[in-house]
Amino acid sequence: MKILFIGMGYVGTTMSTALAMAGHLVTGFDVDEEKISSLKEGKLYFHEPELQEMMVERIRNKQLFFTTDPQKAIEGHDIIFITVGTPSLSSGKADLRYIKKAAEMIGRYKASEKIVVIKSTVPIGTTRNLEQWVQSSSVDSSLLHTAMNPEFLREGNALHDALNPDRIVIGSESSKALHTLTKLYQAFHCPIVTTSSQAAEMIKYASNAFLATKISFINEIARLCDQKKIEIQDVSKGMGLDHRIGPAFLQAGLGYGGSCFPKDTKELLWTAENSGCPLHILQEAEKVNQSQPQYFIDKIKQKVGPLEKKKAAVFGLSFKPHTDDTRESVSFSTIEKLLLEKAQVQVHDPVVKLTKNWLDQGVEQFPSAYAAAKDCDFIVICTDWPEYGELDWGKIHSLMKDGSIFDGRNMLDAVYLKSLGFHYQGIGYE
Ligand code: UGA
Repeated sequence: MKILFIGMGYVGTTMSTALAMAGHLVTGFDVDEEKISSLKEGKLYFHEPELQEMMVERIRNKQLFFTTDPQKAIEGHDIIFITVGTPSLSSGKADLRYIKKAAEMIGRYKASEKIVVIKSTVPIGTTRNLEQWVQSSSVDSSLLHTAMNPEFLREGNALHDALNPDRIVIGSESSKALHTLTKLYQAFHCPIVTTSSQAAEMIKYASNAFLATKISFINEIARLCDQKKIEIQDVSKGMGLDHRIGPAFLQAGLGYGGSCFPKDTKELLWTAENSGCPLHILQEAEKVNQSQPQYFIDKIKQKVGPLEKKKAAVFGLSFKPHTDDTRESVSFSTIEKLLLEKAQVQVHDPVVKLTKNWLDQGVEQFPSAYAAAKDCDFIVICTDWPEYGELDWGKIHSLMKDGSIFDGRNMLDAVYLKSLGFHYQGIGYE
């Protein structure tokens, strides 16, 4: 099938590559000339493992194209996916301005029957409004079918998740859209759930909200484990082996960040509140998440005393490993709190470069973890980049002023580090 994606963010770029790999002819459109010329040259403008290689292969095989020409893009494709951003407004509500712009653009150049599919995460009812937004700028009277097809891929694992989904959800009031999209995904061997567009929108929000709640749940249990001197890792393992619970998203730590969980929980809470049906569990999950960095800073203070003039090394800036995305990263809320306590902060991240405003606040970035740890009183692990597990920790111990490690991702081997003379503290007892 010939497919168009509007919006070349990480979802649009990954899904256009994945559908090209599944044998379709795919074009990626974006208004950003710079992004498109970089993609045309086979260069990904963000860090995502494996994606660039696969993208280049599909470009070479003439299965994947990129353009900034809206007329050619829309006239030439009957199936159009919208993968633009839906950031949060200050009220918590999702900002639909880019969805509306994409819809108006489709309307302007639409000259034949189209299936328009929203893949971005959008509030309940958005897909039902899409037809009106497209038609408002259109003079064409041929049919328009709309659908919601939420995406569940994770940054850092994007291509793998896109090619191996647990399920595909297609919501539409149009039988033609349901039939065509089911056929489009037939190369993906997983259950396909067909439903209404509103249920599809809710499935996406409820899934992200549930996963966020699972993380906050285990983080609260970890706080109790700290009190009772119980290892949270053993608790997570013992719970996760129950197939009704499952091991995923039971990793206690500094909490969730990123461009999805914080934004999507806010939007769902906003919708619930404004529907007269507040979601109490999710409200608490959000509160636990917001207080988790401060909880950890307090633990650090209990061990090292006042942080004023202490030198801290922060390892990891991205919101999770294998990405350079720092949106809502807990590393930055942790750094903010360290600065508030008047600590000196030195950072390292394998891919993220600190922006000027952090440098202006006196935060220093080093190209290696060793250099960042030199003369420090303590290290705080904020992102579980696997390379931190492979460092020469004996060397780091000798470089530091005082050997304390606060592992905000419970990723390091506590027994080994203690044998080297470190004071080690994770979240949830040790
Ligand atoms: C999340 C969902 O997992 C995807 O299914 C969804 O498609 C995506 O949002 C989206 O809506 O676009 P993502 O934000 O890329 O994906 O990353 P996750 O792997 O879910 O991690 C989110 C945060 O939770 C990270 O900060 C991570 O460190 C944290 N986390 C994750 C934990 O603290 N503990 C865990 O056990 C798992």
